[in-house]
Amino acid sequence: MSFIITTPLYYVNDKPHLGSVYTTIICDSIARYKRLIGEDVKFITGVDEHGLKIQRTAIKKGVEPKIHCDEISTIFKMNWKEWKISFDKFIRTSDRNHASIVNEFYRRVKDSGDIYMGVQKGWYCVGCEEFKDNPENSSSYKCPIHQKNLEWRNEENLFFRLSKYQNEIEKIISKPAFIEPTERRNEIINFVSKGLKDFSISRTNVSWGIPVPDNDKHTFYVWFDALLGYISAINQDDANQTLDNAICGGWPADIHLIGKDILRFHAVYWPAMLISAGMEVPKKVYGHGFLTREGQKMGKSLGNVLDPELLLTKYGRDPVRWYLIKDISLGNDGDFQNQRFVDITNNDLANTIGNLLNRTSSMSRKWFNNKVPNNLNTSKENKLSSLTKTKITNYINNFNRYKLDLAANDVLDLAINTNLYLNDNQPWNLVKDKSNLPIVEEIIYNVLESTRIIGLLLLPILPELSEKIDSQLGNLYKKDIPWLSQLKWGLLIHDTELPKPFPIINKLDYD
Ligand code: MSP
Repeated sequence: MSFIITTPLYYVNDKPHLGSVYTTIICDSIARYKRLIGEDVKFITGVDEHGLKIQRTAIKKGVEPKIHCDEISTIFKMNWKEWKISFDKFIRTSDRNHASIVNEFYRRVKDSGDIYMGVQKGWYCVGCEEFKDNPENSSSYKCPIHQKNLEWRNEENLFFRLSKYQNEIEKIISKPAFIEPTERRNEIINFVSKGLKDFSISRTNVSWGIPVPDNDKHTFYVWFDALLGYISAINQDDANQTLDNAICGGWPADIHLIGKDILRFHAVYWPAMLISAGMEVPKKVYGHGFLTREGQKMGKSLGNVLDPELLLTKYGRDPVRWYLIKDISLGNDGDFQNQRFVDITNNDLANTIGNLLNRTSSMSRKWFNNKVPNNLNTSKENKLSSLTKTKITNYINNFNRYKLDLAANDVLDLAINTNLYLNDNQPWNLVKDKSNLPIVEEIIYNVLESTRIIGLLLLPILPELSEKIDSQLGNLYKKDIPWLSQLKWGLLIHDTELPKPFPIINKLDYD
């Protein structure tokens, strides 16, 4: 059984922004964790290339949409490689195989009697690629997300009978596990309770899209096309792709992680489309919050957009991952503050975790011949071993519930308490009296062992820092042995050679 996790398929109107980096890093961390606990993960990401928004962007640039999409899609893929995102599939909705999936899906929905021709009148936001619900004074109303005027539409479109699925959707969203977090679920329950309206799934004024079979004036509405990217990604390399193949490949998705603004599409429209096509609905839709910068919404007009590439080149991956994973509670909005970013990098990573490893390794090398000391009491329960066990249990519970910030704080807490244990026991004083040597051995062993486990727990959160910790402890982590079994207390091997310590993370300056 596969574990399928997806990011949204990002619009290629521009290169990745901090919001897309945020979702992708969270998915990466979950995918890494699931692999470590032994699941067969399919981590799907990709780009949404069709529709009016992209067509207009290309026209403005004076290039063919395909040329524009090739360029930006390549940037997305390269960016994810630079961030060392462990994705398994990168889907482009302009892939040929994807069009055949969309066509097959459409046929199934049509065969269910859920497609009809109608007239679509309403106010449209091209930025959202979405009709807005009867805003007052629509001609002057600006989309709150894009701050742009809506456009009036009155055209013949094909419609999907969403209204037919009212009861089924109500039943699906009433299950607490389906939409998280709870507040977002309540918003959707409220929206659905007002009655679902059919929605249009084709356009006549957009040439940059997948043509609707037997309706040559129409292309598919970009959302009808893009959501299916999650399915065509599953077996994207098969020459002959079908929906049944995708089911064999593991559909339904275990979790769609998306921003709160696109929850309706994923938690209402998408499940109804899938039921109509005789397919299973995703197991969970998790709507995360929005990121602001220094308390302000980021926007081109405000000139305060934080370029993730700059963050990457200036600070590296680990500090940014730590901030996004540990400091923002998944589901809530988050604020990127430079001062806080520097503070937590220096305090948590450099001082608490980095320094703990550095000073303990130095003591061990100095007193025990550059090696991990012997500890005759490895299997004896002590304060640190019992705390470590509790933290591991909490961490696993938290990760399983997608409480990544709490899991990260469990690791940090363990590091704080390990420092306290060291300070309370003061091995640097005890060592002055030779008769204390067995106790000093035990203390240093315990601290190094706790640090080994801290490193292992950081593997899905900060993979690079984790590897550095492991290499400082003599490369004890074995990829071919289950990670969970390596989280057992007492596996640090006595007499392991400890390499010369170096700072595993550099402190940042405020600037
Ligand atoms: N193409 C659609 C998704 C189709 S999925 C089949 C789309 N693309 S998007 O590029 O506009 O948005 C991608 C994601 O970025 C969304 O989940 C959106 O919520 C998220 N974010 C956009 N701005 C954001 C922030 N400022 N902060 C966090 N996430 C934000 O929608």
